[in-house]
Amino acid sequence: MSSFDALAFRQFFPFFNNNPDWVYLDTAATSQKPQQVIDAELAFYQRQNSNVHRGAHQLSQHATAAFEAARDKVQQFLNAASRSEIIFTSGTTAAFNQLAFGLMDTVLKPGDRILISALEHHANIVPWQLHCQSHGVQLDVIPLDPQLMPDLDVYQQLLALKPKIVSLTQVSNALGHILPIGSMLQAAKAAGAITIVDGAQGVSWQVPDVQLWPVDFYCFSGHKLYGPTGIGVLYGKQRYLEQLKPLLGGGEMISDVSFQRSSFAALPARLEAGTPNIAGAIGLAAAIDFIRQFDARQINQYKGELLQQFAAGLSQIPGLRPLTRVEQSAGIVSLQLAGEHPNDLAMLLNEQKIAVRAGSHCAMPLFAALQLPGAVRFAFAPYNLPAEVDVTLQALAAATEILR
Ligand SMILES: Cc1ncc(COP(=O)(O)O)c(C=O)c1O
Repeated sequence: MSSFDALAFRQFFPFFNNNPDWVYLDTAATSQKPQQVIDAELAFYQRQNSNVHRGAHQLSQHATAAFEAARDKVQQFLNAASRSEIIFTSGTTAAFNQLAFGLMDTVLKPGDRILISALEHHANIVPWQLHCQSHGVQLDVIPLDPQLMPDLDVYQQLLALKPKIVSLTQVSNALGHILPIGSMLQAAKAAGAITIVDGAQGVSWQVPDVQLWPVDFYCFSGHKLYGPTGIGVLYGKQRYLEQLKPLLGGGEMISDVSFQRSSFAALPARLEAGTPNIAGAIGLAAAIDFIRQFDARQINQYKGELLQQFAAGLSQIPGLRPLTRVEQSAGIVSLQLAGEHPNDLAMLLNEQKIAVRAGSHCAMPLFAALQLPGAVRFAFAPYNLPAEVDVTLQALAAATEILR
C-alpha cells in the first residue's frame, strides 16, 4: 500500500469543495488547479500587472523578473543546461507547430524521413503533415505490437532507413501506455536522429532530466501539470534551437528590423514573438513548486493502486472490454462496451456526474488501426479517491445494464 495521503492532497484543490457531487476522471484532458497556482495568477494581475521586457518603469522590471524567474524554475525542473533552452509557448500543440515549421528547410531536406509512433496525439502528426508533402519529406509510423505498444522490431527496421527526426510520445493520451522511451531514444540517437518527446501526458508521470535523457526537444503543457491553460514549454538543446526557423515574427524576437530585412534576437527571445502569457508562466512556476513538494514515486504507486482497484471491478461487469493494459498505464484506462458507441456510455456516466472522455481522443489514426470508433477514457490523478473508483464502478454497472 502506498503511504501517499490522497485526501490531504485533494484539500489543495478548491474545485472539489465547489463540486462535491462530481467525480472528475478527466485529468488527461486537463488537471484541476491547486489554490497556490490560482493565487499566483491572481496576485500577478492584482498587484504586478505590467508588460515584460519593454518598460522603462519599475513595474515592468518587476513583471520581467517574475516572468524570467518562471523560466529559471522550468530550467531547474527539467535540469536544462541553460535558461535560454526554455521557450514558453501556449502549449504542446504550439511547440510542435514551431518544431515542424522550424525544422523544414533548415534541418530537413527533400527525401528525409520523420519517424513517429502509432500512439501519437494529433499534435505530433498534423504539424508534420502540414509541411511534409510540400517539402518532399516522408512521415513514417511505427506500428503497434499485440500489447498496443510500439512494435520494437519494426522500429529497428525503420531506424535503418536513417530518419532525421524521431518524435515520440512519452505516454499515450488515448490508452495511458508508457512507452519504453529511454531505450527508444537511445536507439534513435544511435541511428543519428534528432529526438523529440511529447511530454504532455508524461511529464506528470516522470519528469525528464534532459541532460541525462537522449532527448533534443521536449514539449509539455502547463495545464496538465496543475498549471494554467495557455502556457507550455518547448525545451530544446541550444544547438538545435538555434537551427529552428521562427514560426512567429513580430515584437521582441528581433535584434534589428528594416523594411528590407530583419535579424533575430538571441534565444530564448528569438522564438517568443509578441507579448507572452506572463501570468501563465508565473502560474506554471507555482505549479512546479506545488508538485515538487510530493514524492513522485509515491504518487505513481498510489495511482497504480487506483488502477488495480478499477480494473478488478471492471472484470466483474459483463460486456466491458478494456483496451488499456493496466500494468503498463500511467493512470488511464480506456475501454469499450461491446456493440455500443463510446459516447452513449459517457453520456450515461455524465448523468451520474462522472466526468470522463469518449471518442478518439485526438488519436484518430490509432483507433483506425484498432478498427474501433473510439473508447471511453477514465483518467485517474492523485486527488482521486478509492471511494470514487467504487462510485464509478457502480455507475458503469448501471449504465451497461441500461445499454445492454
Ligand atoms: C499526448 C498529448 N500531446 C499533445 C497534446 C496537446 O496538448 P495541448 O492541447 O495542451 O496543446 C495532448 C493533449 O491532450 C496530449 O495528450
